[in-house]
Amino acid sequence: MDLGAIVTETWKELADERGSGNPARYIPALASVDPRKFGIALATKEGEVFCAGDADEAFSIQSISKVFALALALERQGAALWDVVGREPSGDAFNSIVQLEREKGIPRNPFINSGAIITTDRFIDDRTPDEAVDDLLGRLRRMGRDDTISFDPEVARSESETGSRNRSLAWFLADFGRLINPVEDVLSVYFRQCALSMSCRQLAESALFLAVDGTDPVTGQRMCSASRARRINALMLMCGHYDNSGQFAFEVGFPGKSGVGGGILASVPGRAAIAVWSPGLNRAGTSLLGAKALASIALKTGWSIFSGQWTEP
Ligand code: DON
Repeated sequence: MDLGAIVTETWKELADERGSGNPARYIPALASVDPRKFGIALATKEGEVFCAGDADEAFSIQSISKVFALALALERQGAALWDVVGREPSGDAFNSIVQLEREKGIPRNPFINSGAIITTDRFIDDRTPDEAVDDLLGRLRRMGRDDTISFDPEVARSESETGSRNRSLAWFLADFGRLINPVEDVLSVYFRQCALSMSCRQLAESALFLAVDGTDPVTGQRMCSASRARRINALMLMCGHYDNSGQFAFEVGFPGKSGVGGGILASVPGRAAIAVWSPGLNRAGTSLLGAKALASIALKTGWSIFSGQWTEP
């Protein structure tokens, strides 16, 4: 299978649709990104990387960061993390607050914002916010094989200035006694992790651990145990796109995590990690063209976590 040709063909066949969907505007710093950007990077477990379009341009990874934060929070807390975060799809928007009161401050999963805020709190653990951010950056730089990976302070500031909803979620969690750190400390790390700037190539390379056994097959860097990588994939499939997760599983057939910056990170267990970027989003905050690109790659490669061929819907 010529994966390089598949990536290039997928990019070309969708290039005319660049600019489709609606870029996130609720974080002002994201609204200024060129909506016609479109990149694809596919990294195989054998160490090859195939790219097309704007695959080397860094963008705001936003909620994709929740995957890395989850792996690192599990490393610090072990299974105790699951005492305060569930593993069920929410069926609601990423920033919804409605279930939190009924469910006593235990968010449905670690990818909706409330669950991600607790996950970040447990990742910080007993450290200062800056120490936690440095730890996250160090891990990503090693996994992404690039020392320049960083967060965009302008995006982090913009998120904080417009972060009333996330503050509401965090205070609600604090009221239930679910946070171990002060609300503003947790949010200062959460906003910086969401503001991480990475390219499709860096993302695909740094997420290979998900497709293999928790360890980057190229550098040998370990992110988490094989068992945790498997469970993170399960959560990505069920909850990675919030109330659009079923549609994504139906169209694409392997685990993925979206971000409102227009990136999607997908893992094809046993084979590869794929990152796509196009800022226009669907109603659930998943990149419209990015999801189409992944569906097209799934169709062309036949890759899926399910057996059988994809043909008609
Ligand atoms: O907390 C927020 O609203 C953003 N920093 C992240 C949201 C996001 O990326 C949702 N995913 N598609």
